[in-house]
Amino acid sequence: MHAVVLPGETDFAGFRAVARDLLARAVPPERVSFSVKGGEAPDLFAGAAEPLPPPVPAAPLAVPRGFLTLAETVVLHRDPERFARLYRLVWRLRAEPQLMRVAVDPDVAELEAMAKAVRRDVHKMRAFVRFRRSELSGEPWFVAWFEPDHRIVAANAPFFMRRFASMRWSILMPDAAVHWDGEGLAFGPGSRRADAPTDDALEALWRGYYSSIFNPARLKVGAMRAEMPEKYWRNLPEAPLIRPLIAAAQRRSEAMVETGPSAPNPRPHRPHAAAAAVPAEAGTLYALAAEAAGCRACPLWEPATQTVFGEGRAQAALMVVGEQPGDQEDIAGRPFVGPAGQLFDRALEEAGVDRDGLYVTNAVKHFKFVPRGKRRIHQKPATGEVRACQPWLKREIALVRPRLILAMGATAALSVLGRPVPVGQSRGRVIEGPNGTAVLVTVHPSHLLRLPDAAAKAAEYAAFVDDLRLAGEMVSG
Ligand code: URA
Repeated sequence: MHAVVLPGETDFAGFRAVARDLLARAVPPERVSFSVKGGEAPDLFAGAAEPLPPPVPAAPLAVPRGFLTLAETVVLHRDPERFARLYRLVWRLRAEPQLMRVAVDPDVAELEAMAKAVRRDVHKMRAFVRFRRSELSGEPWFVAWFEPDHRIVAANAPFFMRRFASMRWSILMPDAAVHWDGEGLAFGPGSRRADAPTDDALEALWRGYYSSIFNPARLKVGAMRAEMPEKYWRNLPEAPLIRPLIAAAQRRSEAMVETGPSAPNPRPHRPHAAAAAVPAEAGTLYALAAEAAGCRACPLWEPATQTVFGEGRAQAALMVVGEQPGDQEDIAGRPFVGPAGQLFDRALEEAGVDRDGLYVTNAVKHFKFVPRGKRRIHQKPATGEVRACQPWLKREIALVRPRLILAMGATAALSVLGRPVPVGQSRGRVIEGPNGTAVLVTVHPSHLLRLPDAAAKAAEYAAFVDDLRLAGEMVSG
């Protein structure tokens, strides 16, 4: 028996090197045991009780890409047998090169299920980490507690770095910690739940936000429990609200049916106090998003699921502004994830612009729609609604301080520039915007989706890609 000791729990590169060597020596899986010695120098065959056989001359094994992608994820699983299972599969691939396509094969199915569990854990961490404000040397520092099922911290840390780039934060976990000080990520040892703060002033805002987005007519308790397992509830500021809201849901839902769809309020609304005041002092985008979650500056908040705030790089050189969230954005709580977002992503890629480097937001932060049967049909926001939402955009601009704002469509241009501008005539030239910030105007991606004529669509799409490329070039270097 050959005892392989890998240096780290998630050491994919180490496993790959060992597996390659074992395969070259034709060592079958039943003759190998894998274990991990955290932090030690890679003494890969330290425990070998038998001498390893010499390498067998053979054609080099081409491991399918699908196996490597799967293995990279599976090594993050907590199953102590993960390396042994992976080696068994790669061993079998020598004789059965098409094996990865056989989804019902027990080895393939098992590893696919493990990879799925890891991906789900990654997603849960992104959804359920909640930072609480704390202080370090008199400066705000945001701290979260999370208990992942698998060893996903290093793989997930870059997501949190990009998403919360402007904050300084720590995520504490039972067997690891990750810290971001605004400049670099650092990993540390595990801690206790009691080390993480449990309350702060932002929690009241989160609770207000959660109550406002909780739509009793959409409540499916089973689906909600599946998506948000109870084990995560205790970390969530909104957790104390969940049971009372579920209890009240039936009553609220009946009242909604009796009342019918809410019509837009014909009276002009006075902006919400928080939205009306644009404070000079800069907070953080995170705090601003939490504040916007409770915005009642116009009637659009009421039928919408939630405020969809901007997201992206906190100090982005290029800020992109759209019109308002659509149906899918309203549900996901993120801008540009639906059909227009997919077209936008494709065009960005063709233009060579990385979405991760942008800050992407909308002029109006709630979805405006009319219900038609089961569908919700997009409605263009009225000028008053754009104006009511404008303070949020101004505050986003003040915090991000982009070098260039790309306004996509007439609504975005109206909000950014404070006056109506014809998109066709303003397109492609730099306009002076708020506080001298350069503004480029282009069409909205939904406009391209609506064009019926294929030739016109292709030409407009190419022009849109050119505008994105121009915007990217203006901020590069
Ligand atoms: N259209 C927009 O303007 N914004 C979105 O977020 C989605 C569609």
